[in-house]
Amino acid sequence: KNISLIGVPMDLGQMRRGVDMGPSAIRYAGAIERLEQLGHKVEDLGDIRIDQPERVHTADTNLRNLDAVVKGSTELAQKVKSVKDKGDFPLILGGDHSIAIGSLAGISQRYDNLGVIWYDAHGDLNTGETSPSGNIHGMPLAVSLGIGHPDLVNILDYSPKIRPENIVIIGARSLDEGERELIKDKGMRVYTMHEVDRMGMTRVMEDAIDYLKEKTDGVHLSLDLDGLDPSDAPGVGTPVIGGISYRESHLAMEMLAESDILTSAEFVEVNPILDDKNKTARVAVALMGSLFGEKLL
Ligand code: ARG
Ligand code: MN
Ligand code: MN
Ligand code: MN
Repeated sequence: KNISLIGVPMDLGQMRRGVDMGPSAIRYAGAIERLEQLGHKVEDLGDIRIDQPERVHTADTNLRNLDAVVKGSTELAQKVKSVKDKGDFPLILGGDHSIAIGSLAGISQRYDNLGVIWYDAHGDLNTGETSPSGNIHGMPLAVSLGIGHPDLVNILDYSPKIRPENIVIIGARSLDEGERELIKDKGMRVYTMHEVDRMGMTRVMEDAIDYLKEKTDGVHLSLDLDGLDPSDAPGVGTPVIGGISYRESHLAMEMLAESDILTSAEFVEVNPILDDKNKTARVAVALMGSLFGEKLL
């Protein structure tokens, strides 16, 4: 594959500092070398410029740093779109999960029916009205469905970016009231930790892949490191115990690699300040290895 790497040092979608260093931490953990060893051609496009929190003026809404997030998302969307136009595989490194707003805006323009795998402890389906925190990293999936603040929803001047029936959420174990209602209302496919435990990751992934293969013409993986259990991925801002294991995650990535359905991916929420000797970035890179075809034998 021709992979174009884009770093997004975004920390404005939530309140903990340090997640803006995620892209550096993931590069430092050897992402590029790992992908090159697998025979891929990697072009590192560097980082999107994101305003520093100290200089951001916060508008009078429940959406923290709204204007700066819109600005960063727009820049990312344009960059991602240019990668797709070249025919390359965009690999986006976060940054907090608000960056998915820009990723999906840029990618989905090239597809009639983009599918999304949302690997996450959370649904990220809040709006300014339902959000308990005002943090935009809890909203990107709703925004991509066309639900939320118009400035976020209309990035690159089209909406929605994705259809609810093209979304598969894996690993959910913390949902707010409004998010639950939205899931029921829209009929999104969700494999909570209950399903992961009950069916096992093999069946979850077989199911998810079959489902998306039939419905979509491209699939984006949005992998929030907090989808994993905090014992395996401690460097995240909103950890939730009882998550997907390191091994289950490798299996999921390997099954995605075999299926060959992915057309773009992002790894988000790596926060080196909260981490244990860059463990979470190293986990992200190991998972990337499996996702891009690494095999022991
Ligand atoms: N549901 C909570 C909120 O909206 C937490 C969201 C966490 N999202 C994330 N991308 N880590 O504030
Ligand atoms: Mn910063
Ligand atoms: Mn999360
Ligand atoms: Mn998330």
